[in-house]
Amino acid sequence: MFKWRDSFSTNVAEIDNQHKKLFEIGSRLFEVASLKDDCDHYDEMMGILDELRDYTLYHFKFEENLMVENGYNNYENHKIEHDFFIKKLVRLEKSDLDNDQNESLIKMLNFVADWISSHILKTDMNYREHFNSRGVY
Ligand SMILES: [Fe+2]
Ligand SMILES: [Fe+2]
Repeated sequence: MFKWRDSFSTNVAEIDNQHKKLFEIGSRLFEVASLKDDCDHYDEMMGILDELRDYTLYHFKFEENLMVENGYNNYENHKIEHDFFIKKLVRLEKSDLDNDQNESLIKMLNFVADWISSHILKTDMNYREHFNSRGVY
């Protein structure tokens, strides 16, 4: 589910490394969600969520700076999508994640899966050519 493939590459090494980090966070979430052992995983979930937030803010800023520096003309629309994911993440963080941990894990997994499928594999792919044509690899 969260296995990185070469076809996911944006052809920009640093961005691929950052994206791989998201796949790694997704895999860890998936592992916790697969346990189904009725144990308390709240601390683990919160740890992953903290990491996910830090990673999200760092990665989006990194991409946005690179777009601005390289005069990417679809910057505004791209940023709207980033802001949408940040809003979703804030909403997730504010919700009661302890009441039903299995349900919360599914919400967190859906968030990461949606980000990968609708943004990384689509919207992020649109800047490949532009960055490469500017010598950014
Ligand atoms: Fe990205
Ligand atoms: Fe992006």
